[in-house]
Parts: sequence; C-alpha cells; structure tokens
Amino acid sequence: MGESTSFNKEINNLFLENNLILTVNSVQALALIQKNRYVELIEFLKEKGKVFVDDNDLENFINVNGENEIPIEIEKGKIEVKLEEEPETEIKRSINGKRIPAKENDAEIKFTKNIKQENVSQGSIEDFVKLFNDRYSKMKKMFRERPSTRDFMPIGEALRAKKGEETSVVGMITEKNESKKGNLILTVEDDTGRIKVFFSGSKELDEKVKYIMLDEIIWIKGTLGDGIIFGKEFEFPDLPVSREVCRSEVDLCSVHISDVHVGSNAFLEKSFLKFVKWLNIRMGSPAQRDLASRVKYLVIAGDLVDGVGTYPNQDRDLEILDVYDQYERLYELLSMVPDWIRIIMSPGNHDATRSGEPQLPIEKQYAEKLYELPNVDMVPNPCFFEMHGVKTVVYHGTSIYDFVEGIAGVGHDKPVPAMKEMLRKRHLAPVYGGKTPISPEERDYLLIDSHPDIFHTGHVHVNGYGNYRGTSMINSGGWQAQTDYQKMRNIMPTPGRVPIFDLKTHKLSIMGFCNDGGGY
Ligand SMILES: [Fe+2]
Repeated sequence: MGESTSFNKEINNLFLENNLILTVNSVQALALIQKNRYVELIEFLKEKGKVFVDDNDLENFINVNGENEIPIEIEKGKIEVKLEEEPETEIKRSINGKRIPAKENDAEIKFTKNIKQENVSQGSIEDFVKLFNDRYSKMKKMFRERPSTRDFMPIGEALRAKKGEETSVVGMITEKNESKKGNLILTVEDDTGRIKVFFSGSKELDEKVKYIMLDEIIWIKGTLGDGIIFGKEFEFPDLPVSREVCRSEVDLCSVHISDVHVGSNAFLEKSFLKFVKWLNIRMGSPAQRDLASRVKYLVIAGDLVDGVGTYPNQDRDLEILDVYDQYERLYELLSMVPDWIRIIMSPGNHDATRSGEPQLPIEKQYAEKLYELPNVDMVPNPCFFEMHGVKTVVYHGTSIYDFVEGIAGVGHDKPVPAMKEMLRKRHLAPVYGGKTPISPEERDYLLIDSHPDIFHTGHVHVNGYGNYRGTSMINSGGWQAQTDYQKMRNIMPTPGRVPIFDLKTHKLSIMGFCNDGGGY
C-alpha cells in the first residue's frame, strides 16, 4: 500500500486514542497544519468538547492559534513583491478581510498547437518523411521572414550553378564531420538535393559553428565549389532581436514547478506541503501571502510521479511501489491547491504515458481522480498555451542532455544554455536518435513556431533562470533530494525552489520551501 494510506492510518489512530473522529474533509485539511502541532490541536478540540472533527474545526484552530511558525526562505535579491494599498471600494470583495485577486479573476487560458490522441500517427517511415517535411517548410518560412536570410535557393539549383558564385541555401544537417585540420564539414539536404559545406575562416565563425547540431535546419551563405559550398556565414532560425512581449492586463502570477517525483523515497513531501500551504495563503510574511493571493496558474513541467520501472532496480528507491498509488497521493496533494488556481499538468519521462515526444497527457486510467479535478488541465509534453495572453511553452526537457552531448560548455547542472539553444534553433529537440525518443507525427509539435514569453522546462532538477531576446527562461528544479544517480554524476539538485512569474511585469520571484534535505 502507498505511503499516504499508512500516513492517514497513523494520524487517524492518534486522534482515535483521544476520542476524536476525523471526517474525510478534515484529513485533507490536516496537511495544512504542522505535524508537531497535533498535540496542541488535540487539546484544542478536546477543550471544545468535539467528537467528530471537520475542516471548520481545523480552520478555527488555525484562526485562533495562527500558523506562522516557519518563515518561508527567500532567495536573496530575487523577490520583488510590493504590498499595495487597498482602496476602500475593493475591500468589499475581500474574503475574511483579505483580497484574493486570483479568486476574483477567472482563468483566461488558450491552448494553441498541441498533439491530441486523435492525431497520433502510425509511426511508419512515411510519417518520418512527413515530420521532416513539416519541419523544413516551417523553418523555411521563418528564414524568409527575416531580411538577412530572405534569399536562398533550392540545393538542387545550387548544385547546377556556376562554380565560384556566391550562394545561399537552407537545409537540414544530416552529417557532421571534422577535417584533418579540425574544420567542420557538414552534409546539408533539402527536398531537391544534398551538398557538402566546408567551414573555415575567422575565429568568430569557428566559435559559432560549435553550436551546430545534427538534424537541425540552418541558413548558409558561401561560395560554390564542385558539390561543395565554402561557407562564409550561417544563421539559426532564432528569435527576433527585439519584439513587444505579451502581458496580462491584470496583476496575476503563474507558478512553475516540475519533477515532483511522488512515490520516490527522496520526494520531499514536507516541503511540498509547505508550498501547498503557501498557495492557500496560510503561510509566510504579509508580502509573501500577497504574492500567493495573485497566483492564478500552477504549471507543472513533468515527472509528477517517480513511476515504476523507469530505470533498473527502481523499486529500491520507491516509497510507494504502485504507480496507481503514486498518482493517488499526487491527487491528494494537488486537491489541496485552492480551486481558483488553474493547474496545467504536462508529463515527463517518469510519467504514465508514451515516452516518445511529443508525449500525450498522462493516461486517464492511471490518474482518473486528477482528470476529475475541475481546475486541472491534463496536457501533452510539450504544450503551447497562453495564460492571460502571455505565450507559454512548457516542455519537460529530456533533450537538454542532447545539448550537453552536442555542444561543448553546456552542462548537466546548467539548463539555461541548453534552453537558449532551443530558442535559437526554434526547436525543442532537433536531434533524432539521441537521448530524446521522438515519435514521428505528421506535424512537428516540437518546433517553436511562436515567440514565447515564458519558456519553462524541468528534468535536470537544478533551477535556472535567464532571458533571451524577451523570452523568460525558467527551469523549475524539483522536489526530490539528491538521488544516487545524481551523486554518481556529482549533480547537486536544488529542490523546493519555486519560481513565480508576474504575468503583468514579467518579473520573477523565487521562494524556497526546502529545509529538509537536498542542499540549498
Ligand atoms: Fe525528474
């Protein structure tokens, strides 16, 4: 049986010994009270002459005795919260004297390009052809839209052109080799032909070519030789240098988490419960509670549970051995999130769905209760959507390890350089046959064809933040203490650090909920 069942039994027994009977609602609400205060709570209930305990009794206990005991840690210099004065007319909309803007404003969410079960292909060779054709035609359009890369010709035409002439082409990198002198030789293809590209020249160019990866599509300019282009410059599809970002008109926030790993014996449940308590505006300083009251969206970038059989001998690392029980406990935890917060739940490589990307949402049979929660959207990985008009991409981040292998200087513990490369390449997982399993679909759902305002990943369990050409990059770390796998690779995770994004100002605040292991 799962951990939650034994936990509930233990708590039930403690209350029964004191002639107190817990109702279902009160068991859930109990998680909002520190375990070390249960004795005090029992005394309080006995004084009131209670036998059946419901959630109102627990609410009374919190109101009378307060629940401020553990201040939430704030990462230095990151928190940017201001308490605003409340005009008198707005106080009427308050709840127990406290305004909750997130409750006053309905969610405005729009899902854009995403895989759906009914669109899943058969996985044949033809589907791969369709996938790469779709990628190529969309990338070609991106290059055409940029003045500096607008001109290019089909490779077949370039092959027939006069030697010594200057040419530009757009093609997919199908081979990447080094000459004896260490210069880069590429094989580049489009639907009309295949040509070699030889890069040598300035130090600047030598530095830039290091970022070229297999299977991606680039624009190349150079001089024609015999079946070869002597490359002088090249471009990734990239984001525009400057653009107007999208903002919410209302003062609301999105909270970004990932890699909860419920079921793992390294899952930091205590810290997670503190986080849930903060979302319930029951914890933290007035400024931190004010911030919580503006949280309208909770975005989860995969690895909700630890899963079963994800890697050899995983059962040794599991607290909850059954995947159904893992999702049951996840449900118990997320059902405590206030119902005015919209939860957008995207899977990762540990979740119960196909591993090939794009991943479909977590399968309903494993997480039925989560599907029933009215404030939850079960979405695929990746998922493109808008929150109050702010364009968002959530992607678990499996391909980060392809970037670690493919580009020198991109490390396991620093997700942001890899995320920046994804934006420059306008693709979440360009490499086929690497660390990321790709499912062939008629459309390339991993292509970044919009200009996202928020780009959110997880997977590496190390928080990271950055901004590239107006796009806020967030890696949300996780809720798991250091695992043996990470120990072996000397990766120090940063659990329990929660990025909070202001949808109006684009400012990022980080709050730390973890003081029970995993390092800080
Ligand atoms: Fe993970």
